[in-house]
Amino acid sequence: MPAQIISGTEIARQIREELKQEIAELKEKHNLIPGLATVLVGDDAASQVYVGQKEKTCSALGIYSQRYDLPGDTAEEELLALIDRLNKDSKIHGILVQLPLPKHINETRVLYAIDPRKDVDGFHPVNVGKLMIGEPDYLPCTPHGIQQLLIKSGVKIEGAEVVVVGRSNIVGKPIANMLLQKKQGANATVTVCHTRTRDMAFHTRRADILIVAAGRPKAITADMVKEGAVVIDVGVNRIGKTPEGKAILCGDVDFDAVKEKAKAITPVPGGVGPMTITMLMLNTVKAAKLAVGIA
Ligand code: GUN
Repeated sequence: MPAQIISGTEIARQIREELKQEIAELKEKHNLIPGLATVLVGDDAASQVYVGQKEKTCSALGIYSQRYDLPGDTAEEELLALIDRLNKDSKIHGILVQLPLPKHINETRVLYAIDPRKDVDGFHPVNVGKLMIGEPDYLPCTPHGIQQLLIKSGVKIEGAEVVVVGRSNIVGKPIANMLLQKKQGANATVTVCHTRTRDMAFHTRRADILIVAAGRPKAITADMVKEGAVVIDVGVNRIGKTPEGKAILCGDVDFDAVKEKAKAITPVPGGVGPMTITMLMLNTVKAAKLAVGIA
């Protein structure tokens, strides 16, 4: 039987509805408008699309936003000075610096410069550490979106064999950490595979829940998936353009073949992507509430 399609678009829409209401209440009861600053350095086409989507979602939900588009040759010191200003700006509760940054900029230095209280990406080492010990203020957006997709689709995580493909700081490491916590919506046995894993298929075939953030189109084929597994595809690969110039996207999973074997699967687009943006909005609202002591 073909898999249930887990619609990130639909689940994200429901969460945004609730958030919109909460944001309206914050304004009415506390005169509080959550504020997000987005910073993009350079003109990477995909990053421009992502930042544009974040801005649009802010506006749809009633979040105040400021967008900074800096040229690709911006000096690191200039970017750090902007972050310093945003750290001190009381209208701004969350700061998002879109990654990747140009090569001449030290990404670690930039992420360390963001006030952890405004780090709505959850990338600052203080927030990474808090996540690891199970006391997070801000969960990183893509892993949080994945966890919510699983919970809201009724997938049993407790005791499940979860296999994560990819060990990035943005997705692989944090989702692995989150799902092994002794908490509801977690409590899984987690394996992390990566480019030096000896026999990838040996691991992926054991997975009840397979989370793929490999960064390679169709890296996971049907023979690598157990019958009845739940498959979460984090990949967004641009594999061509339509005659109208629109990007053709594909995930890290061979969707058409794997959907015949899996119990449930996320599509690309319309799976994890919309959840990531929604979790950013959620973190921005939380940052605003924390700033005034009502979280
Ligand atoms: N680039 C890819 N994913 C992300 C993300 O979650 N946050 C930021 N800031 N940049 C990214």
